[in-house]
Amino acid sequence: MPSSTRPRAAAAVAGVLAAAVAALCLHGAAAQLCETYYDDTCPDAYNIVKQVLIDAHKSDVRIYASLIRLHFHDCFVQGCDGSLLLDGVPGVINSEKGAPPNNNSARGFPVVDKAKAALEGACPGVVSCADILALAAEISVELSGGPKWGVLLGRLDGTTADFNGASNLPAPFENLTVLQGKFKAVGLNDVDLVALSGAHTFGRVQCANIADAPADRLYNFSGTNRPDPTLDSAYRAFLSQRCPRNGNSMVLNDLDPTTPDIFDKNYYTNLEVNRGFLTSDQELKSSPQARGTTAPIVDQFARSQDAFFKSFAQSMINMGNIKPVTDPSVGEVRCNCRKVNDS
Ligand code: HEM
Ligand SMILES: *[C@@H]1O[C@H](CO)[C@@H](O)[C@H](O)[C@H]1NC(C)=O
Ligand SMILES: *[C@@H]1O[C@H](CO)[C@@H](O)[C@H](O)[C@H]1NC(C)=O
Ligand SMILES: *[C@@H]1O[C@H](CO)[C@@H](O)[C@H](O)[C@H]1NC(C)=O
Repeated sequence: MPSSTRPRAAAAVAGVLAAAVAALCLHGAAAQLCETYYDDTCPDAYNIVKQVLIDAHKSDVRIYASLIRLHFHDCFVQGCDGSLLLDGVPGVINSEKGAPPNNNSARGFPVVDKAKAALEGACPGVVSCADILALAAEISVELSGGPKWGVLLGRLDGTTADFNGASNLPAPFENLTVLQGKFKAVGLNDVDLVALSGAHTFGRVQCANIADAPADRLYNFSGTNRPDPTLDSAYRAFLSQRCPRNGNSMVLNDLDPTTPDIFDKNYYTNLEVNRGFLTSDQELKSSPQARGTTAPIVDQFARSQDAFFKSFAQSMINMGNIKPVTDPSVGEVRCNCRKVNDS
């Protein structure tokens, strides 16, 4: 062996060892997520994702909102395993992208692909797609004026999708009891439910979610042939113009008309004056079941942006901890976020 290759071989061995060490965040005997997971194997991961998001935002002001929603829809289905990102393969993968909560609604997938491509260029085969979604969620909030937090990393990508699970994501027409149940099922409590719903401080929502059954709040709420009585009448008049009865269900509205693209506490001040967009939003404040449970949390966040930001950061970490795959015999680092490796 020529002597000149020896240092390189030694460096490669050292690199593999470093990777083997970095690839585990040990706490006692169990692997868990940690902030430093890529410090040795892809130290620029955060900045690489951030630059892709900043570039995407130049032609799409909505992209930050769309990306945090992808992390939510990923984590609530089989845990944060990148399952949402898998495209359909007949007979093998029934893509979550086609499930009602996602179909014609979940967006931002090409930007995730761009982040993946940039990361593969810098550190091939290292950063999972599930972690890209977690990083993109934090970066999106931060760049929109919201809180920063240390993103926990080290999730592997799963190899399956769950169409039925995705179809059972929390729905805009559901009442507080059902929403609490769906959050509790993934280990999240009332503070998490109220704080995470605060992500509806930015982004867009289609008219279908306020003007069409079963989510009709403007014309025939719960089959009453009346509007939802918990919807402010001036806001209802405004929304009825934008979303006429039997109109175009895909017309977009701001989830927070006061500051549509800024991550602030206005979601909660809107709820205080009956200007939540979705039933699932207003329920947190106005449901009879909200008294003594979620309503006081809404009130607190409406008063204090600091309290909201602190809770939001912690609840994002809690959501990001839903059933992560850390066992390499179960998960993998996908080369392409849309496909299982070797398929
Ligand atoms: C509590 C239960 C929730 C329900 C029922 C719900 C429902 C919805 C619905 C129906 C839309 C509009 C989709 C469309 O019209 O295409 C939406 C948008 C959005 N959701 Fe939620 N959501 C919930 C929780 C969350 C959570 C936990 C997050 C993130 C932490 C989140 C972030 C967003 C964002 C940012 C948008 C706007 C996306 C965009 O503009 O592309 N939501 N949500
Ligand atoms: C998604 O929506 C399109 C209409 O835009 C529809 O043709 C398609 O069947 C839907 N996908 C699924 C899986 O239902
Ligand atoms: C909430 O919705 C569920 C499912 O539709 C229903 O069974 C339940 O009675 C509702 N709860 C309240 C308090 O309205
Ligand atoms: C209102 O909703 C109820 C229950 O879904 C339905 O039976 C009724 O036909 C609707 N009314 C109109 C005018 O569409």
